[in-house]
Amino acid sequence: MPATTRTLDSIRVDWPAPDNVPADRKVDLGWAIGFTPNDEVDPYAQCGWLSGPEIPRILYSPAQPGATAGSALSSSGRGSWVVTHYEDIDRVYTDNDHFSTKGTAEFQAVIGETFRSIPLAVDPPEHTKYRLFLMPHFSPSRMNKMDADIRAVVVEMIEAVAAKGEVDIAWDFGRVFPVRIFMGLMGFPPPMFEQFLDWEWDILHSHSREKMSDALRGVLAFLRGFIAEKEANPDEHLVSAIVHGKIAGQPLTEEEKIGIVWFLWLGGLDTVAATISQMFRRMVMEPAIQTQLRSHPELIQTAVEEFLRTQPILSSARLVTRDFAWHGVTVKAGDTVQCLNPSGNFDPARFADPHTFDPTRKGNRHFTFVGGVHLCLGAPLARRELRILLDEWFRRIPAFRAKPGADTAVFPGLLSIRNLPIEWDVA
Ligand code: HEM
Repeated sequence: MPATTRTLDSIRVDWPAPDNVPADRKVDLGWAIGFTPNDEVDPYAQCGWLSGPEIPRILYSPAQPGATAGSALSSSGRGSWVVTHYEDIDRVYTDNDHFSTKGTAEFQAVIGETFRSIPLAVDPPEHTKYRLFLMPHFSPSRMNKMDADIRAVVVEMIEAVAAKGEVDIAWDFGRVFPVRIFMGLMGFPPPMFEQFLDWEWDILHSHSREKMSDALRGVLAFLRGFIAEKEANPDEHLVSAIVHGKIAGQPLTEEEKIGIVWFLWLGGLDTVAATISQMFRRMVMEPAIQTQLRSHPELIQTAVEEFLRTQPILSSARLVTRDFAWHGVTVKAGDTVQCLNPSGNFDPARFADPHTFDPTRKGNRHFTFVGGVHLCLGAPLARRELRILLDEWFRRIPAFRAKPGADTAVFPGLLSIRNLPIEWDVA
């Protein structure tokens, strides 16, 4: 159904749901989570109306009868409560009494692994010690130290294509640049690049249990071997710092080491890549943004924040810890609540003129990195990479456009856009 014709009535369903779900809250939101491509300038626009004042403050998206696990909003395929308004999403991310991250991003359970994804799947107060342990490696002062290295990689990559007048900005640039930085930060061997991306794809996007299991076995064997190698031969990179680090005077357990290194591997690989591809797609489809940033480079920092707000590649779920009443329903312990970030980031009660891309926007506190204690640890790195990329790009590359015939359809989420050939006139 075209995005423009969706209404609350058009998405109502009478699919089976638990007893605590009133019939008038049941809607199909499977389309809203980024598995369906579209070719709109703002590919997330189709979710914006869900934060309007006429929409109930809590909805329920049941699993479609007969659908495979993973097709419903909750990762378990069981169906989930969904909140779409800014204020309610904010509560889910910050109310650690009622909402837990237990089990989040624990794909490793598929092959029977029992270690936790640290720090994401750990609730406070225990979460704090891991966060404090990792924070110095992602602090603003650490990012200042990485600035020159990030800039060197980006400049080298831009200069390699400037005179050619074209590049596949998604495949050959967006996919490569942040992963090179991340691998350098962690100390991973550069030849693992393609293998890492293949594993990541199979785990997150293959929808095949067999491929996912093979990839999980492959990456975890590699990471455990790498941890053992760094235990024996420390270097100046992050994996070494983790495996030789101490929390409250104690060395980390094997479960903690693999839990942290695994989750950083998972979170650090393709998130920035997807963001870069969508950022360039937006500038191709709305060239006025290029013109504005080229003539006002001082806006690049706030423009990065606006790209992030308008491109919420992930929506996060939380597990309900105890029964409670909320917006006229009883939410039960064990239920999941999904926060629809592509809706909250466009809530008209929070953002003036939410569908306009405004690089001068003030107080741009969006949910692309979620909120509360699990606010993305890599956010300072991601922001720095995006800022440096735009800085150096506009210095070297003139107005660019999609190559004739390029397919600009995009999945509004982490799947994003695999290929986006762009071109510019070479002087
Ligand atoms: C634009 C790029 C990125 C986006 C959009 C993004 C998004 C997110 C989101 C939505 C979460 C919270 C998930 C949840 O609460 O369920 C998160 C957490 C996290 N991210 Fe990122 N991320 C990005 C880049 C990175 C990078 C580059 C790294 C590491 C190098 C990273 C490491 C982490 C970690 C460790 C957490 C868990 C934080 C905690 O639980 O305390 N992220 N990220």
